[in-house]
Amino acid sequence: KTITWSPTMAEKGGYRHFMLKEIYEQPRALADTIAGRALVEEGDVYLEDLDLDDAQLAGLEKIFIIACGTSWHAGLVGKFYLEKIARVPVEIDIASEFRYRDPIIPANSLTILVSQSGETADTLAALREAHGKGGKTLCICNVVDSSIARESDGIIYTHAGPEIGVASTKAFTTQLVALYLLALKLGRIRRSLSAADCQARLADLLELPRKLEETLELDAEIEELAREFVNARDFLYLGRGNLYPIALEGALKLKEISYIHAEGYPAGEMKHGPIALIDEDLPVVVLVPRNSTYDKVVSNMEEVCARGGQVIAVVSGDDEELLDKVAALISVPTVDEDLLPIITSVPMQLLAYYIAVLKGTDVDQPRNLAKSVTVE
Ligand code: G6P
Repeated sequence: KTITWSPTMAEKGGYRHFMLKEIYEQPRALADTIAGRALVEEGDVYLEDLDLDDAQLAGLEKIFIIACGTSWHAGLVGKFYLEKIARVPVEIDIASEFRYRDPIIPANSLTILVSQSGETADTLAALREAHGKGGKTLCICNVVDSSIARESDGIIYTHAGPEIGVASTKAFTTQLVALYLLALKLGRIRRSLSAADCQARLADLLELPRKLEETLELDAEIEELAREFVNARDFLYLGRGNLYPIALEGALKLKEISYIHAEGYPAGEMKHGPIALIDEDLPVVVLVPRNSTYDKVVSNMEEVCARGGQVIAVVSGDDEELLDKVAALISVPTVDEDLLPIITSVPMQLLAYYIAVLKGTDVDQPRNLAKSVTVE
């Protein structure tokens, strides 16, 4: 008998790379992050370690979200969740900026640090800055007992499990779930969200792992698509509202592992610069599922098509209308518009992954990058 499995292959659970394994672990990671926290019958959310009582949460006047890299993109979506659902003003900043700008931190504010590793030097320094100014802190973190988890007042753990691939995948989508749960909880306490609405949102959230499972069935189709676009020199990613951060994240994923230059942009801002780049050689990934800005994004997309850009449209359900206009269509399951950032992350990850595999780069350990940046 020959042994066909090496120990590292076993660690990767039969997947070629940790990144792919971690992409596939997302339905489970999401379910674990929701488990025990969604109180569907009560229309409420239980978060075990917030370290803030209901009166403090009700009295919050401002929230800061601070992070780096992919975690910062999660924070950008978090701003949409918290402002829309809990009606608290949110300021978001990159940790290396926040820590040196002498931020004004009011007494009844909360600073949320988002960090997969809990060890990012700039995020840790930002946490200390917020503490030093008397602010309350809360981290959204994936590593138990990490430095940021230890020093924060409150913690919401993401239960993604160990993430080995340098390019973050399941940690990102579980951060989005954690931020969503926090927004629901705050919304209930601050009475901007009714118990019935919360119930409906939680029911949708509990369906999400299954919908993500379905989204993963896009795998073969996206691998095929990757072949078509692997030789592109640049990519543009466009999204609007809560999908603008996903455009940034899609571009970051591609850059990190395939070394192709990619830029994410708010779709409405395209005419203020990036439109100059559009020609037949530029693939443009447009996040255009059915949501409240659908018509606006379709018209942005048409501007790209009119200039010969190769549009890869990410749509929900069967959006036949767009089929004739674009070079490729990626269809994700229909979900509530606030959950679209989570579901559309999956095709972004798979596209970057398959392009990188075709390029033959070191997907799990891309050049010059570290999983956790513990120096400034
Ligand atoms: C590095 C990693 C990224 C990560 C960022 C922030 O750049 O390569 O994947 O998003 O650090 O890390 P953190 O652990 O704080 O989320």
